Amino acid sequence: MEKEIRKMIDMALQARAKSYAPYSNFHVGACLQDDSGEFYLGCNIENAGYTATNCAERTAFFKAVSDGKRHFKRIAIMGGNNEDTLDFCPPCGVCLQVMMEFCNPDTFQIILGNSDKEYKIYLLKELLPMGFGPQNIDNENRG
Ligand code: THU
Repeated sequence: MEKEIRKMIDMALQARAKSYAPYSNFHVGACLQDDSGEFYLGCNIENAGYTATNCAERTAFFKAVSDGKRHFKRIAIMGGNNEDTLDFCPPCGVCLQVMMEFCNPDTFQIILGNSDKEYKIYLLKELLPMGFGPQNIDNENRG
C-alpha cells in the first residue's frame, strides 16, 4: 500500500506540472484511483472570470466519470503556492461534495502530501462529516 501511495503522490506531482494557475499561482495536482485500480490525473484550471476555475480534484473526477467510472478508492492531492512549494492541501468544500456523490465516505481515502515527503490519509467522512449525498435523496425522485 505504501508503495502505491508513493506512486499516486508522484503522479499527482506530474499532474501538478500541468496546472494552469496564473491568478492564484497556487498549483495543485491530483491522482484519483478507481475501484479497478486505474488512475485519473487532474490539475487546477483557473479562469479570468474566477468562478469558472476548476480544482485539480474535480478535474480528475470529471475525467473519470466522463470515461464511465463511478466507483473510487482514493485520491492523492499535491498543492502549494508557486511551482516549487508544497504544503498539505485539503480539498475545498465543492470538491468534497463531488466526492460525496461518487465515493463511500466510510472508505474513500484522501491522501495529502507535503514538501517534506510526508503524507496524511483521511477518510471522506472525516473531512465532510454528515455529508449530504445520493442516499439523502428520496429514491422515488431519482432518475
Ligand atoms: N485548488 C485546488 O485545485 N484544489 C484544492 O484542494 C484547493 C484549491 C485550486 C483552486 C485555485 O485554482 C487555487 O487552488 C487557489 O484556490
